[in-house]
Amino acid sequence: MNWSPDKTESRFNGFVGRNRMRVQRQYLILKELIRQPRVMGTLFPSSPALADEMAGALSPGLLKSGIFVELGAGTGPVTEGLLRRGVPPERMVVVEKSPVLAECLSKRFPSINVICCGAEEMRNHINRNEKITAIISSLPFRSLPFDVGSAIMAEIDAALSPGGLFVQFTYALVGKMLHVPPTFKKVRSHFVLYNLPPAKVEVFRKPKAKS
Ligand SMILES: C[S@@+](CC[C@H](N)C(=O)[O-])C[C@H]1O[C@@H](n2cnc3c(N)ncnc32)[C@H](O)[C@@H]1O
Repeated sequence: MNWSPDKTESRFNGFVGRNRMRVQRQYLILKELIRQPRVMGTLFPSSPALADEMAGALSPGLLKSGIFVELGAGTGPVTEGLLRRGVPPERMVVVEKSPVLAECLSKRFPSINVICCGAEEMRNHINRNEKITAIISSLPFRSLPFDVGSAIMAEIDAALSPGGLFVQFTYALVGKMLHVPPTFKKVRSHFVLYNLPPAKVEVFRKPKAKS
C-alpha cells in the first residue's frame, strides 16, 4: 500500500486550501449582493455544469480565431468553464463591473485581460479592429433596470462580429430572453438542472454581413 502521512497531509492541505478559496468567493458574492442586489442578481456562483453548458456552445472550429468576451464574470466559474473548453486565455476579455470582483478575477486568472467597466461601454476598452467571435454573458438582465439592459444589448449587437455567437443563461425557465435583437437567430436552448437554481442556456447567432 502506498499510504504515507506526508501524502495524506498534503492532500488534506490542498482540500482545505481549495475550500477556503471557495468560501472566500462565496463571501464576496454575498457582500456584493447586499451592496447591489439588482446588479448581482444571484446568491450562488454558477455550477461547473452550467459553465460547461455555456462553454460547450463554442465549437472547436470557432475557437481558432477572434476574441471571446465574457460579461458579468463574478468570481469566475464561467471563466473556468471557458478555459476548460480550450479558449486561449490570451484571446479572452473578461468584463466585470464590480471593482471587488474584478480584482478577484485578475488575481485568479493573471493571464486573462480583466476589464472593470459596465458591459454597456465595453467597446471603449476593446480594440475595435479585433474580431469578436463570441460574447458569453451571465448578466442578470431580468433584475437590471430595463434601460440598462437595452443599452447593454445594443452594445453587444454593435460589438459582436457578423456570424458571432451570443451565449446567455437565465433562471427564467420559460419565456423569451429579454432585449435580444430580433435579427439574432436562436440556435440552441438547454436546461441545466445541476445549478442552484436550475437555469436555461440560450445561444444566438448574429446574422452574417450581407455581401
Ligand atoms: C449573476 S452574477 C454572475 C456571476 C458569475 N458569472 C457566475 O456565473 O457565478 C452577475 C454578474 O454581473 C455583474 N454585472 C452586473 N451588471 C453589470 C454590467 N452592467 N456590466 C458588467 N458586469 C455587470 C455583477 O457584478 C455580477 O458579478
